Amino acid sequence: MSNRALEHFGERYGSEGAAPRFEQWNPVIESLLGHRSVRRYAQKPLPEGTLELLVAAAQSAPSSSNLQLWSVLSVQDAERRRRLAELAGGQAHVRDCGLFLVWLADLRRLGDLASHRGAEHEGLEYLEMFVMAVVDAALAAQNALVAAESIGLGTVYIGALRNHPEAVAAELGLPPRVFATFGLCVGWPDPSAPASIKPRLPQEVVLHNEQYGAFERSIGALEAYDRLMERFYAKERMGVQGSWSRHSAARVASAQALRGRDRLRAALASMGFELR
Ligand SMILES: Cc1cc2nc3c(=O)[nH]c(=O)nc-3n(C[C@H](O)[C@H](O)[C@H](O)COP(=O)(O)O)c2cc1C
Repeated sequence: MSNRALEHFGERYGSEGAAPRFEQWNPVIESLLGHRSVRRYAQKPLPEGTLELLVAAAQSAPSSSNLQLWSVLSVQDAERRRRLAELAGGQAHVRDCGLFLVWLADLRRLGDLASHRGAEHEGLEYLEMFVMAVVDAALAAQNALVAAESIGLGTVYIGALRNHPEAVAAELGLPPRVFATFGLCVGWPDPSAPASIKPRLPQEVVLHNEQYGAFERSIGALEAYDRLMERFYAKERMGVQGSWSRHSAARVASAQALRGRDRLRAALASMGFELR
């Protein structure tokens, strides 16, 4: 394994992480393990054809039954970007990145297609189809992200678009049965503010064998992760108070902690998703 690969592995799991036994390494895996979200961008144009390359990567992702229940919307207009940044809680990178893409769970196209053929489309009213569309959109977006990172671009997802789903839908002119699942900023990382690889939970916490393991078996590893993340927050001067466990638990402590997303079901209903 290359030194760089070992470095990525160490940053992902901390020095306590067991060195991988896997000997083979390639640029794809190196790029995947080197991922970090980028929130500061250089004001430098993207290579010509970037959008088309990312869309081709996205369309190369698997899709449930090849229904391709997603679309992507590119937003370049500066005023619209500014409004979307505000709707996403004032995230400046939505405004400042080179390319801002909104990934849509899109049940509209298939409904229109069925109608066009004079066919029924009652199936679109079921939760299953919504899940399919969201999964398709996420897989497509992640393929685009991986492609962007492979050519040195930085990215960050913007789930905060779901804070105000109806306002975002109005801003983007979304018809019923189209939902902005999340945004994705793409751009050249600002070299004066490099992002770091953020550690993840030890593999023993997320990897189960044969049957789901009891929570208690993970407590020690979770405590070790808290210690690792405390060092990361301090090193990165992130100003995070308390441990990863503490603020992760706080994220689900109440409906209010969802910052407006507790009303997502009602918002989706008003946007034409029956979710039966
Ligand atoms: C679906 C999704 C939505 C996200 N939304 C936001 C967001 O609105 N703003 C933001 O700064 N980061 C957002 N992120 C980035 C996460 O905070 C980030 O992936 C996580 O902290 C891990 O850090 P890393 O990506 O640098 O490894 C989102 C990530 C995902 C997967």
